[in-house]
Amino acid sequence: MRYRYIILMLVTGGCLLTTAGHALPSDGDNKHLGVATCASSTCHGSVSAYEDSNIRQDEFATWQSVDKHSSAYQILMNDQSKRMASKLGIGPAHQADMCLDCHADNVPIAARGEKFQISDGVGCEACHGGSEKWLSSHTAGVSHQDNLDAGLYPTEDSVKRAELCLSCHLGNKNQMITHRIMGAGHPRMSFELDTFTWLTPHFEVDDDYVQRKGNIDGARDWSIGQSVSAITQLETLLDEKAGHDGIFPELVLFDCHACHRLMSNNQWVPRKGTGLGPGIVRFNDANLLMMRHVLAAVDPGLASAISQKTRDFHVATTRSQPATDQAARALLTDLKKALPVLNSAPYNNDTLQAILDSLVKDGEDGQYRDYVAAEQASMAVDSVILAFETNGAITIEQADRLRQKAEGLFDATANEENYNQRKFVNALQQLKSASP
Ligand code: HEC
Ligand code: HEC
Ligand code: HEC
Ligand code: HEC
Repeated sequence: MRYRYIILMLVTGGCLLTTAGHALPSDGDNKHLGVATCASSTCHGSVSAYEDSNIRQDEFATWQSVDKHSSAYQILMNDQSKRMASKLGIGPAHQADMCLDCHADNVPIAARGEKFQISDGVGCEACHGGSEKWLSSHTAGVSHQDNLDAGLYPTEDSVKRAELCLSCHLGNKNQMITHRIMGAGHPRMSFELDTFTWLTPHFEVDDDYVQRKGNIDGARDWSIGQSVSAITQLETLLDEKAGHDGIFPELVLFDCHACHRLMSNNQWVPRKGTGLGPGIVRFNDANLLMMRHVLAAVDPGLASAISQKTRDFHVATTRSQPATDQAARALLTDLKKALPVLNSAPYNNDTLQAILDSLVKDGEDGQYRDYVAAEQASMAVDSVILAFETNGAITIEQADRLRQKAEGLFDATANEENYNQRKFVNALQQLKSASP
């Protein structure tokens, strides 16, 4: 308890306070001046990285050549997009807000500068914020904090970055991949903050970076990504408009396999953490389950409160709308309490052990009776090993040994038809015994 109190004090006294006021780039007050404004050769448009600069200055070339964000608008004109748009009856996809909100920097016309072009897709300012107030000052040797105060978005901050990326890669209550858009043929979204941050980076975390902005820790990013996803899904469910579609709740928030499975399967078995009986559509709680494992390592009390409230929430969905909303709010309150705790937790070898312990305990408690939960847990193990290897908490050899054992988890979940819970839990125990 005291440990948690100290962490909270540290966090609220430190970085969270300085970034708390930042609206997402799409909601900010400042004008977006356009990619062309950033891309001159002496700014971010160099053809190769500068030796004696804090930053690379070839960010534009990276974004344009390998980063898919630069083609996000163009793909709205391909055949797949045309088919989707016609099924949805929304006119051309590249003119529909429903698509542009995520496939471009779709700020209101009044917030677009002279060089702004919607066809630039997800441009610099879609992530870094409208540059109206910091464009001229940010090259003048001012501090990072001055830039943030002038409206630069704090992309280095795990929580703020998670909120930003997930606003498009999961959707939030203002812009969503609804079940209707899915039904029209949108690809399934899968996002993990750590992995995606490093897929096509145009930045380097070197000494001067750490000095200016602090470190980027992959394990922390993984855990914050899970928490912010869970929070975003609950907030969407609670939103009067986004959470419903006619007489149904928004189906995209629920476990896809609850409905999309063969009727002849007849595979139902109870799962302890939900308290639900057969024949019930279950809220997708995969992210909730995963973040709880990290929390169990740093604040077991809060972790078990969240378990209890998750169960209460599942059960409330079978009662009534008001009961569901009330339980969702109670759960959200605890998740938001957990966020700063997770953000400042140490992601070291001890934490890794505790995460594995918690995963195994869930197994022994019968949480993986359901195939989907087991599938999620094996993917989590994979991410966790990689994240701790990347941040140096375990060696490459230790990671390889764990990965070998993790094969057992993938074997046990390879075939949905013959999933065997005992085999899976056994593989989890093996994995734990191999941990460093
Ligand atoms: C909530 C944000 C969001 C909305 C709304 C959205 N998309 Fe997407 N879309 C994405 C993201 C993110 C990806 C990339 C997913 C990935 O690769 O992980 C994507 C991928 C795609 C792809 C595949 C791209 C490729 O490289 O193959 C197509 C096509 C597409 N979207 C079309 C559309 C159309 C048409 C609409 C409007 C009806 C739309 N999207 C609405 C976020 C969104
Ligand atoms: C999809 C979101 C996204 C887009 C689009 C994007 N960036 Fe970034 N950018 C990031 C993230 C995340 C970081 C790393 C965190 C940080 O340092 O803020 C970053 C870092 C940077 C840095 C700082 C590197 C350092 O050492 O401090 C610069 C400069 C930069 N981006 C410029 C650009 C430019 C120019 C463009 C457009 C050509 C662009 N970015 C487009 C997300 C984005
Ligand atoms: C304004 C919406 C938006 C934001 C904000 C955004 N993305 Fe994306 N992102 C997209 C879309 C749309 C695509 C798909 C583009 C395509 O396939 O042409 C995409 C694609 C990607 C891809 C390529 C995925 C693949 O399958 O190859 C990565 C990686 C990615 N985004 C990471 C990030 C990260 C990390 C952040 C946060 C720093 C972020 N994105 C923020 C909309 C966004
Ligand atoms: C409550 C049940 C339910 C849930 C949960 C659900 N769906 Fe569906 N889904 C349906 C129904 C009903 C249809 C419409 C089938 C039809 O039109 O014949 C459908 C249609 C679809 C289609 C179009 C299939 C086709 O044949 O055209 C896709 C794709 C889809 N859902 C994906 C998903 C994904 C991804 C999820 C989870 C994020 C999900 N669904 C969750 C019930 C559900």
